[in-house]
Amino acid sequence: MIFICIRWVFFVIKCGFLYDKIFCRVLLFELLFLILQKNFNSLTINIKKNMVNYKDLGLVNTKEMFKRAIAGKYAIAAFNFNNMEQMQAIVQAAVETKSPVILQVSSGARKYANQTLLRYMAQGAVEYAKELGCANPEIVLHLDHGDSFELCKSCIDMGFSSVMIDGSHFSYEENIALTKKVVEYAHQFDVTVEGELGVLAGVEDDVVAEHHTYTQPSEVVDFVSRTGVDSLAISIGTSHGANKFTPAQCTRDANGILIPPPLRFDILEEIEKEIPGFPIVLHGSSSVPQELVAEINQYGGKLVDSIGIPEEQLRKAAASAVCKINIDSDGRLAMTAAVRKVFVESPGEFDPRKYLGPARDTLKALYKKKLENVLGSAGKLA
Ligand code: G3H
Ligand code: 13P
Ligand code: ZN
Repeated sequence: MIFICIRWVFFVIKCGFLYDKIFCRVLLFELLFLILQKNFNSLTINIKKNMVNYKDLGLVNTKEMFKRAIAGKYAIAAFNFNNMEQMQAIVQAAVETKSPVILQVSSGARKYANQTLLRYMAQGAVEYAKELGCANPEIVLHLDHGDSFELCKSCIDMGFSSVMIDGSHFSYEENIALTKKVVEYAHQFDVTVEGELGVLAGVEDDVVAEHHTYTQPSEVVDFVSRTGVDSLAISIGTSHGANKFTPAQCTRDANGILIPPPLRFDILEEIEKEIPGFPIVLHGSSSVPQELVAEINQYGGKLVDSIGIPEEQLRKAAASAVCKINIDSDGRLAMTAAVRKVFVESPGEFDPRKYLGPARDTLKALYKKKLENVLGSAGKLA
């Protein structure tokens, strides 16, 4: 304002010298400058207008819910979604169990469903939850496995309340530099950031790692303090997909059922000692329920040696500083089992609602069980 006043004082003084050619030119420049400044201001306003803040959509970041989850010894579920039925199942399960929940979008989901549509679906999820009777839903819209600053920025700019920057495949120093850059941008908008240290075995964002590189407890203080992340994904033996362990890595019980090796709780404990009370995240935490695998195979599927993380181990993790547990594959199995069943039992059926509907119901039932019996987040809305 002071700046504008001074400019106008000069303007009036210059008017007194209008007869002078030089001042005439200066005046012309002055007017040009004012026009440019006005246009620049409206351009800035437009850029800001195109940015959507998640708070305006009714979404929340992870800060408060993680704090409560650690204190209350439970974990928040992060379920991936790619379409309307998955989103409906997640919201219905969260509302019916009174759980905070994280709606998770991978780069693959963005490619499959269109990022704009997914964002509007998440905005719709908040309204849908209210319509289902939850007055104050706690829903996070989170980018899963963001692999670049540009991708994280684009999500933040379009209304995500949380992002993961997964620099775990880079060198330690590169991981720190990239994660710090994302944190600096995200925190301007109160968006929370998850980083990752250590590499999960299996396929992670098209990158295949044959063996786990467990998180080194000696690195976590340095990583967390230098990056400023809000939560840390660690590697203690979980992995993505429905075949988390090879039969050679497992033992068999009396009935020949594969028993996976236990997670490395010793590493988790060491990490907790290094960064007490800091939010820890577990990826690759599907349990691969054997009844779903059997159902898929009964109806023509061919899943071989599928095995996941036993639920008791996830319960134990949820009671520690692990406050976010990622589950995607179990949802895929549940939907596939339901769809296959309809196709086999009603081969004449061709209305998508007749197979996607049962798939959605099966998914919701699975999610409710997870929230109530495994993660312990039921009834934990603020
Ligand atoms: O971590 C990976 C999630 O399961 C997402 O998988 O990239 O196939 O969507 P996606
Ligand atoms: P699952 O493949 O075990 O479901 O893990 C999902 C995940 O970690 C998403 O980031
Ligand atoms: Zn993951």
